Amino acid sequence: MNSVKHVAIIMDGNGRWGIKYKKSRNLGHKEGLKTVEKIIKASIKNKIKYLTLFAFSTENWKRPKKEINFLFNLLENFLLNKISEFNKKSIKLKIIGKKNFSKKINDLLNKSEKKTIKNKKLLINLALNYGSKSELIHSFNNIIKNKKSINEKNISKYLFTQNIPDPDLLIRTGNTHRLSNFLLWQLAYSEIFFEKKLWPDFNEKDYNKILEKFKKIKRNYGNI
Ligand code: FPP
Repeated sequence: MNSVKHVAIIMDGNGRWGIKYKKSRNLGHKEGLKTVEKIIKASIKNKIKYLTLFAFSTENWKRPKKEINFLFNLLENFLLNKISEFNKKSIKLKIIGKKNFSKKINDLLNKSEKKTIKNKKLLINLALNYGSKSELIHSFNNIIKNKKSINEKNISKYLFTQNIPDPDLLIRTGNTHRLSNFLLWQLAYSEIFFEKKLWPDFNEKDYNKILEKFKKIKRNYGNI
């Protein structure tokens, strides 16, 4: 049986859910946040050490300003309300992606990371303004700056996900079958699960089913 250390998730389908049930994409994001909370709890129950969540991509800036503002307001309230709970549950928060938001958001993100830095049970990598290609360029530039050689170890070392194992599995909800510039290097040997349900409908039972399926997969890494 495979053990699960690191789960990565593309939380897709909020907009469609919101339009279908509430006539508003933003209300889909609000509902999606409830699923985030459920999956964090279920990850702790399953003794998962690393959870990487794709919350906002470098391409998501193309969305209407109203939707972007709504998402960042949700994020702000989430962090303001949850950090003490994160500390109680020993959850560490790390932002992956370029932190070039408003000063208010940047300060809140830095403060949230700092406040949870010593926590050990679960590390949540929250991908914000994240794009895998720009992360790789960032890594290569750091290798050059530090006069190191280009090899797998050094490329991994300078990624935002440095010092943690690559994801064992990737889950993408929303019945869409693509990687959307997410963790292209780190997912090289991950098992990929495409889930039909939209993110707000995804629940602990669906998550556990995927984890059980993953545990039984024979992983060959190119061998036979
Ligand atoms: C993708 O669905 C989802 C996002 C771009 C945002 C993800 C945000 C959340 C789950 C809630 C907020 C989370 C935090 C941590 C504050 P989509 O909008 O692309 O859905 P669609 O494909 O149906 O349009």
